[in-house]
Amino acid sequence: MDLWEAISGRRSVRDFLPDPVSEDELRHLLEALAWAPSPLNQQPWSVVAITDPAQKKAIRQVAEEARALVLSLGGPSWVGKYSPAFLEQAPLLLAVIYDPAKGGLGINFNQPHGALAATAAGVQNLLLAAHALGLGGVWFTFFDPARMRPVLGVPEWLELAGIVCLGRPAKPSPVLPRKPVTVHRQRMA
Ligand SMILES: Cc1cc2nc3c(=O)[nH]c(=O)nc-3n(C[C@H](O)[C@H](O)[C@H](O)COP(=O)(O)O)c2cc1C
Repeated sequence: MDLWEAISGRRSVRDFLPDPVSEDELRHLLEALAWAPSPLNQQPWSVVAITDPAQKKAIRQVAEEARALVLSLGGPSWVGKYSPAFLEQAPLLLAVIYDPAKGGLGINFNQPHGALAATAAGVQNLLLAAHALGLGGVWFTFFDPARMRPVLGVPEWLELAGIVCLGRPAKPSPVLPRKPVTVHRQRMA
């Protein structure tokens, strides 16, 4: 697939067909993640691959709790209609973990987010590769990490960048418009 087509054609997918993601496809997705840049090439990421329905159900439960909490706090009305059912429907969930200690030298200069930045680049690579393979996915973060950690077995020294839900799209996703990027020349005014 042409690079521009991949970048502009990728959409978040929240409705999946039941067909599994093959081991070959999974290898390809993880290789795309691994080619992301990272500070000092420290490659701070790892993933938990989830296909077990009981484990997906437990993950959805944590997401439903977050949704209920936001609603109880008077959160935006769309939250009432938002269903994280795709956490159970998607054939493959990849929980993406990173080691915040692997953030390069930025830690000395008040740049504590190097490992997360690298991992985010990796997730985007993975989503683009999924799109090129005819798969689709959504990067999901609508949960309390403190509640999700024990479900996924993430130790306290690692962080969770999100859960990427993957599979074959059941229908086309809406195209959400983008604003032109504000550009300043030489320095901000
Ligand atoms: C860091 C991050 C967190 C996100 N968390 C969620 C989420 O919790 N639930 C969800 O449905 N989509 C989530 N998304 C997807 C965005 O809603 C989506 O990318 C955005 O609306 C633009 O749509 P598009 O990806 O189809 O172009 C997240 C995206 C990013 C980058």
